[in-house]
Amino acid sequence: MKLLVINGPNLNMLGIREVNIYGRKTYSDLEDFIRAAFAEAGAEGEIFQSNHEGEIVEKIQQAYKVFDGIIINPAAYTHTSVAILDALKAVGIPTAEVHLSDVDSREEFRRFSYVSLAAELTVKGEGFEGYRKAVLWMKERLTNAER
Ligand code: DQA
Repeated sequence: MKLLVINGPNLNMLGIREVNIYGRKTYSDLEDFIRAAFAEAGAEGEIFQSNHEGEIVEKIQQAYKVFDGIIINPAAYTHTSVAILDALKAVGIPTAEVHLSDVDSREEFRRFSYVSLAAELTVKGEGFEGYRKAVLWMKERLTNAER
């Protein structure tokens, strides 16, 4: 089982950006946390971060026939990117969406997610733990698909 975690713009600024919302842990702490979740699930995984929409689209395209599941926090592109939605639909890889914060209790514009139209699971407002939930959910999802 090969999982790809994609993190979108400004998530590399964790620990510095809006600490009242995202907390004081850094992006490197998040990578460690996700790697521990891969180990717990017995999954092979890669973590990718980009601040560029086109790079995220390309990474999703390159995942075709390489990765079995995608876990994505598209960050601000969640609310704007038809291109990321279309890329996820194009490759047809099972997808889970994660948001550190509870996007529903913030500004109105954060309530809509293009990526939700392709994701089978969305976890919001659970901080780092949301990634662990998504990894463990993906393990179940892919194991059931093999039966
Ligand atoms: C986010 C929520 C988005 O609205 C925001 O633009 C982000 C991070 C989250 O993880 O809570 O950058 O995806």
